[in-house]
Amino acid sequence: MAELSRRAFLGRASALGGLAALGACSGGDGDDGNGREGAVPAAGEAFDPGDWASVRDQFPLDPDTAHFAAFVLAAHPRPVADAVERHRTGLDTDTHGYLAETEADADAAVVTAAADYLGAEPVDIALTDSTTQGLGLVYGGLRLGPGEEVLTTEHDFYSTHQALALRARRDGTVVRRVRLYDDPATASVDEIVSRLVAGVTPATRVVAVTWVHSGTGVRLPVRDLADALEGRALLCVDGVHGLGVEDVSVDDLGCDVLMAGTHKWLFGPRGTGIVWARPEAWASIEATIPPFEPSSFGEWANGLPPEPTNGLRFTPGGYHSFEHRWALAEAFRFHLDIGKDRVAERTHAQAAQLKEGLAEVPGVTVVTPPGDALSAGIVCFDVDGSDPADVLGRLARAGIAASVTPYATQHVRAGPSIVTTPDEVDAFVAALRS
Ligand SMILES: Cc1ncc(COP(=O)(O)O)c(C=O)c1O
Repeated sequence: MAELSRRAFLGRASALGGLAALGACSGGDGDDGNGREGAVPAAGEAFDPGDWASVRDQFPLDPDTAHFAAFVLAAHPRPVADAVERHRTGLDTDTHGYLAETEADADAAVVTAAADYLGAEPVDIALTDSTTQGLGLVYGGLRLGPGEEVLTTEHDFYSTHQALALRARRDGTVVRRVRLYDDPATASVDEIVSRLVAGVTPATRVVAVTWVHSGTGVRLPVRDLADALEGRALLCVDGVHGLGVEDVSVDDLGCDVLMAGTHKWLFGPRGTGIVWARPEAWASIEATIPPFEPSSFGEWANGLPPEPTNGLRFTPGGYHSFEHRWALAEAFRFHLDIGKDRVAERTHAQAAQLKEGLAEVPGVTVVTPPGDALSAGIVCFDVDGSDPADVLGRLARAGIAASVTPYATQHVRAGPSIVTTPDEVDAFVAALRS
C-alpha cells in the first residue's frame, strides 16, 4: 500500500466519523507548556494553595468526619471536580464535536502536567485507568528471554502478585519472591537492600517491588535498591502510595518503570493512573492494547507493523471516560500549586505525630517504622485483643474514617494526608486512648 500521509489519513479518519477523535490524538498546539490553556484552565481564584485550611476547603468531604482513609479512593478537590464537570458538559452537549476539538490539547495537558510533576518527558508517560491496569499491562508485556526470571517480594499487593502469576501461567515465567524484612517496625535500609540483592541471580531480568507497602506502611528505599542493582535487572515499582506524597522526581527515585493510580494520594479523578518508564525500559515492554494515536493508526492503514513502544504508544486505546482522564491535569497542577515539598512535609509530619501518639497508647503496637526513613503516609497498627474491624467501628463512632489492610495479615491502617489536620491526628489518638 502506498504511504498514506498523516494529513490524508486524518482527513479520511475524520470523514469516517467513527474515528473522529483520531484527528485530535496527536498532542497538539495551543498548549502554553503548562497544560493550562483551552479545556483545562487553572484552579479557582478563591483557592489559596499556601493555606492548609483553603486546601481542605477544596474537598467536598464531610467536615464532620476525619478522613484517614481518603487515600484508598480519592475525593476530588474543586479544580479537578470543575474540570470533570466542564468536560462532561461538553461531551454531553456535543459529544462528537467536543471530542474532536478537545482531545489533542487535553491529552497533551495531562501528560505535560504529569511530566512536570514527575520531572519526566511527556512521551515516556502512558495514561491508564489504575495502578492495577498498569501493573497488568507492564508485567504481561515485559519481554523476557528464555530462562529470564522475575524477582518480586512477599510484601507486594495482590495486583503485583497476581499480574505476575498470570504471566507465569501464560508463559511459564519463573517468578521468585524474597522477604525484605521480618518485623516492619524495625526494618532497616541495609537489611532491605541486602535481602533484595541476595535474591538476584544471573537469571533475574526484572525486579518487581512496591514503593510503599500498603500492608505495613514500609516505604522502600527505591534509590538504594536501584544503586545496589547496578542495572542488572529492570527495577519496576508499584508507586501508588508514594505518588502524591513524596517530593521526588523519577530520576531521584531511580527505578526503571513506575506504575501508579492517580486516584489515591494524588486525589486525581477516579479511574485514572500512569505508567512512566525510561526510554531504554520502554524498549523492553510490548503494548497489549492498541493505542489510539495517529502514528499507530497510520501504521495500520499502511500495512506496517507497530513501531517500538513508548509512553504514548503504551496508552491503551479505545474511547475512555474522558471527563475523568482530562481532569487529571488539574490534579497534578493542584499538587504543584501547593508544592510537592509542602505536601510531603505535611503528610510526613502528621504520620510521625500519629505514630508517636499511638506508641504511647497502652495496648497499641505500631507496625509501621518510626521516623521518616522507611515510611510515608500510611500508618499501620494493632490493638491488643481487638479485631481490626472492631477498631474501625470504634474510630467510626468517634467520627474517624480509617481502613484495614487488605492482606492475609490484617492491621488497622490510617493515612494522614492533605485532607486531614494535626488536630484530627490528636483526636485519632484520643479516640484510641479512651
Ligand atoms: C500497593 C497497592 N497497589 C495497587 C493498589 C490498587 O490500586 P488501583 O485501584 O489504582 O489499581 C492498591 C490498593 O488499592 C495498593 O495498596
